[in-house]
Amino acid sequence: MTVRIVPSILSADFAKLGDEVAMCEAGGADWIHIDVMDGCFVPNLTYGAKVIDTVRRCTSLPLDVHLMVVEPEKYFDDFVRAGANGLTLHAEVAPHLHRQLTRIRELGCRAGVALNPATPLNAVCEVIPEIDLLLIMTVNPGFGGQEFIPYSIDKIRRARLMLDEEGSQAALEVDGGISRETINEVWSAGADTFVAGNAIFSARDPKGEIAAMRASCGVPA
Ligand code: DX5
Ligand code: ZN
Repeated sequence: MTVRIVPSILSADFAKLGDEVAMCEAGGADWIHIDVMDGCFVPNLTYGAKVIDTVRRCTSLPLDVHLMVVEPEKYFDDFVRAGANGLTLHAEVAPHLHRQLTRIRELGCRAGVALNPATPLNAVCEVIPEIDLLLIMTVNPGFGGQEFIPYSIDKIRRARLMLDEEGSQAALEVDGGISRETINEVWSAGADTFVAGNAIFSARDPKGEIAAMRASCGVPA
């Protein structure tokens, strides 16, 4: 069974970003998660193509870019050029999901859709064949270090059923409050891809934390 551990650099020490990313790679991380925030879709600002390009030079791991921005299509080309391997946009700001997902695939990227905790699964049910990744937010997006919302478990279970019923091979990713304490229940509900920021970067031993998260799913490191 697939377990992808995906450190979010939002909680990394940016004074030594290259070292932080290298440490994640050495610790067995599967992808690196890059949170792009525009201060409009979410009440916080982060970074864009420059940081994607910087991380690209530090690792050969796939870069999983989470677009918490309005008008995400404005950034597709630049971010792919900078080295993104997956682009995930939010259904809440994407009235033309079919067109946007098709464009991401045309650019040779994994096409992902994210849903806020309050957004129902049926926001994506018509475009499942166009999706390579479904991201269920397990906190309200915008900040690292928030607490996992417990009722997300049932939504993940229903998302798993929805993807399976459609015969979709899409990754089922979760993001927000994932730690060695919360990961097992999320994994048991059917998620296979686990973003974690605070749990990894605030740990005394981040590599050990990645291994512990994987072990919590019953999968050897
Ligand atoms: C939150 C971001 C997350 C964040 C997760 O809006 O999308 O990727 O980094 O951080 P933790 O694991 O600290 O909840
Ligand atoms: Zn994220």
